[in-house]
Amino acid sequence: HLIPKYVNQLVVPPVYKPTVVKDPATGKERSHNYTVSATAFKQQLLPRPFPNTLVWGYEGIIEDGSCFHSTPGPTFEAVKGIPVNVQWVNNITEPHFLPVDPTLHWANPNNMPPVTPPYLPFPPGYALAQIPVPFVTHLHGGEVRSDSDGNPEGWYTAGEEETGIAFTGSRFTYPNQQEATTLWYHDHTLGITRLNIFAGLAGFYLLRDPNSEIEPFLPSGSFEIPIIIQDRSFNEDGSLLFPNIGVNPEVHPYWVQDFIGNAIMVNGKVWPNLDVERRQYRFRILNGSNSRFYNLKLSNGQSFMQVGSDGGFLRGPVTLTELLLSPAERADVLIDFSKVEPGTKIIFTNDAVAPFPGGDPPDPETTGQVMQFTVRDTPPVPPVTLPPILNQIPTLIPDTPQKILTLNVVRKEGNGPLELLLDGQKWEAPISELPIVGSTMDWVFANVSNATHPIHVHLIQFQIVSRQLFESDRYLADWLRLNGEPPLQHPTISLPVEPYLIGEPMEPDLNEQGWKDTIRANPNEVTRMRLRFAPQNVKSGDSKPGVNQFSFDPTVGPGYVWHCHIIDHEDNDMMRPMKVVSSPI
Ligand code: C2O
Ligand code: CU
Repeated sequence: HLIPKYVNQLVVPPVYKPTVVKDPATGKERSHNYTVSATAFKQQLLPRPFPNTLVWGYEGIIEDGSCFHSTPGPTFEAVKGIPVNVQWVNNITEPHFLPVDPTLHWANPNNMPPVTPPYLPFPPGYALAQIPVPFVTHLHGGEVRSDSDGNPEGWYTAGEEETGIAFTGSRFTYPNQQEATTLWYHDHTLGITRLNIFAGLAGFYLLRDPNSEIEPFLPSGSFEIPIIIQDRSFNEDGSLLFPNIGVNPEVHPYWVQDFIGNAIMVNGKVWPNLDVERRQYRFRILNGSNSRFYNLKLSNGQSFMQVGSDGGFLRGPVTLTELLLSPAERADVLIDFSKVEPGTKIIFTNDAVAPFPGGDPPDPETTGQVMQFTVRDTPPVPPVTLPPILNQIPTLIPDTPQKILTLNVVRKEGNGPLELLLDGQKWEAPISELPIVGSTMDWVFANVSNATHPIHVHLIQFQIVSRQLFESDRYLADWLRLNGEPPLQHPTISLPVEPYLIGEPMEPDLNEQGWKDTIRANPNEVTRMRLRFAPQNVKSGDSKPGVNQFSFDPTVGPGYVWHCHIIDHEDNDMMRPMKVVSSPI
């Protein structure tokens, strides 16, 4: 049952077609409106003659006027300055086809009573947990008001019959005031995000600036391709395989701390090939996996150039021979095939062992490969010379005391953690992140776990200042002495990191020195991030604490979240609420 590689051809998701609303007086475009539903269908993920696979995906009107569904969903092409409104419809009417673990803190639309051992096996598992399916959509990296942010407790079932406590509606507005970049949309339902994304609920949202001075230099049209990389496992019958025995089945019957698949899927096709011309291409690369990291290299040893990160263009192009992406990170990359011999096959290889340093490396024959480029015999087109400066990125200046946060202080039992925690607190603990609108502050992450956690904060694009080694075991021991056993029922007493630091702070990688919304916090390191709770477009480094410069009020609505983007962690309490406030509380 070995899956042959490079039989599938890469598919580029089609683009949604908006209803354009114009100002009747000026004719100016006022908004782009869409209706997008989540629905179940079969898609050929594996190469034939393998059967097709039941998936969930997004459905809407695409450019040719037809109604289309796929996973990844069709792509939004958004224009800077023109708001997008999306009516998000939950059309999932069948039971969840993946094992919902009702012992986690999760949406629980049927209000099922707490379940206790002995647990039933899956299937049928807890029929009450499998239907109806809650759903809510988040625009990852989007600068949006919190009632359009897809709060994990703002979920709703089909027909909006059941709704979560943070539900405020299902028509979301994305102002598109931030910098042009590669965003993505995906499900964010409390406690089942890992299952809903694994089932297929993810897609691209490309924000473009028509006044960009850089875009005209870059490959476009069919030479610009978004690629979402996701690992998957399959049953013999072609259906998706997600583990249904937990690491601590006595406590959480189905939850595993890191889903790692044994096949690599790109844009909804397992191990695809892409025929390329002898010229430069632009790839918007997204790691859309639950837990797997990718360290991408081209098998012919050639280098490539990164021009953008999560939140926009880098200050200047960065030449790379390898690119490390943790879940949710994006890279805007140029690859030049103009000097490659026609007929050459180049593999995008992967040798990331993360999230656990010292973990098993991927098998070079399977998950050590991502996709293939076959260079066709076309006249070579030399690449353009890029301007040395791509973006003006302000150096942020903190004006508010730093916040020290610990990553992943867990209770362990049996084969693994019971849950993963941020600052020793569960999701439901009282809110502790209350940034003042307009303020700039450092969040200092002391990672006392043995894994890299990609930390994602909603609402803003931020920056990484440094990483520094520290004595994490001694820090953890002192932290536990100070705070007691997690999960904490009281506010965390923060422990300064200074006495535990080792050596000098390390600069972030060159391709991280720009706007980021997801940053890797490595084990045994203190990672310092600088967050400004102001619009990304404020071009000076400072801002005025307490002054709202957003085009919307970030203090209204159910609030935001920050979390680890290893989705299996996020679903088991490695997520915390965040509320932007207008004055200190
Ligand atoms: Cu990509 Cu909170 O999400
Ligand atoms: Cu994590």
